[in-house]
Amino acid sequence: MDLRSVRGTHDIYGDEILKFNKISKVVSSNAKISGFKELTTPIFEFSKLFEKPLGDQSDVVLKEMYSFEDRNKDNLTLRPEYTTPMIRAAITNSMLNELPLKLFGIGPMFRRERPQKGRYRQFNQINFEILGSEDYLADVELIFVANEILKKLLPNNIVILNLNNLGSKKNLLDYKRSLTKFFKDKKNKLSKESIDKIEKNPLRILDSKNEIDIEISKNAPSIQDYVSDELKGHHKKIKDSLNLLGIKFIENSSLVRGLDYYCSTVFEFKTDNLGSQDTILGGGRYDGLVSILGGPDIPGIGWAAGVERISLLMQNNTNDVTEVHIAVTDREFTNHLLKLMQYLNFNKISYYWNYKFNLKKSLSKANKLKVRKVIIIGEKENKGNFFTVKDLQTGEQNELNLNQLDKYFDDKNW
Ligand code: HAM
Repeated sequence: MDLRSVRGTHDIYGDEILKFNKISKVVSSNAKISGFKELTTPIFEFSKLFEKPLGDQSDVVLKEMYSFEDRNKDNLTLRPEYTTPMIRAAITNSMLNELPLKLFGIGPMFRRERPQKGRYRQFNQINFEILGSEDYLADVELIFVANEILKKLLPNNIVILNLNNLGSKKNLLDYKRSLTKFFKDKKNKLSKESIDKIEKNPLRILDSKNEIDIEISKNAPSIQDYVSDELKGHHKKIKDSLNLLGIKFIENSSLVRGLDYYCSTVFEFKTDNLGSQDTILGGGRYDGLVSILGGPDIPGIGWAAGVERISLLMQNNTNDVTEVHIAVTDREFTNHLLKLMQYLNFNKISYYWNYKFNLKKSLSKANKLKVRKVIIIGEKENKGNFFTVKDLQTGEQNELNLNQLDKYFDDKNW
């Protein structure tokens, strides 16, 4: 039998799962502090949910969705992103009665992309959304929360916030028209992928990685000439607030984002340490999306971050060593051992026990695992109803009953 996992998928264990758990803990605690409520949605939805909102020209919909027909001939899709399912859930569960609604979630997403470091076909996203506020403070708060989370998880990495303003939906439409005209004149020089985008999504040519496309784009019209004064004001207030909060950013006029639903504020946190998959977190405003999905005409803004990308940048957590190792010399003493297991569980002291009755092997295993303390149960311990605790670093040995263990672990600042 072929036991390989599917290309672009991976098992998560060892150091990586510890990092995932830490990410999840930091995200949940920060979300709680800032009043975001958790929501998980099903892994698959009707395909229609994604097709229109994500843009029938965006890469995600055209090439990357895992879609299938089930026995009822329903067209279903493994969710490629979280924003649309979250809005669907907010509408169908009547969560939009009280606005703004602040939601967050963490979970797996699926995109059939070409796998490489930091890019997978099943990956996990952290997702934050605010529905029902057009206030610039919603933009600021979301960026602030993102920055706080990344600061905690990646204290030793340089992660830079890139910011752009795409204007209103109408501004964006006018801008797209003028871009189409501009690129049409240069059609012969553009890469094949970009030629395909001239009519339907010229914005995406601006973030092409092809060198000639980049050179041509340098002379393309600027979105700033199309943005309304009102939205310029909105953007200025965001920048002032970020300065006040001490969040460094660069203004990046080629930042357009890959999904079609964006307008106004868009942003990405990028790093130099991940090769070409350098965006850790990205998001922006999607005014109009809630109504496209059948909800009220309310604005929205959010972001998503890749858990795997954050994890790749995190250091391994070397503190996660089991606290005690148990060594039992004979099966006869299992009753005494069971009492110890109960005690350690009750007191939340982590232990390892390998079902082998060999003191020498147990001690060498404990040394190998870098466990600091071994609790030994032999004949005299069993008879005398106590335990021998050996500190492998100092060699110190103590004979202690259950009550004395309490004091011992307290004193040792466990
Ligand atoms: P996105 O830019 O498509 O945005 O994805 C957000 C983040 O998910 C990326 O910056 C990256 O860290 C991670 N990511 C995306 N694709 C992959 C992959 N194939 N492998 C590993 N990590 C990946 C969205 O999904 C929007 N829904 C974000 C949003 C929320 N906008 C508003 N609200």
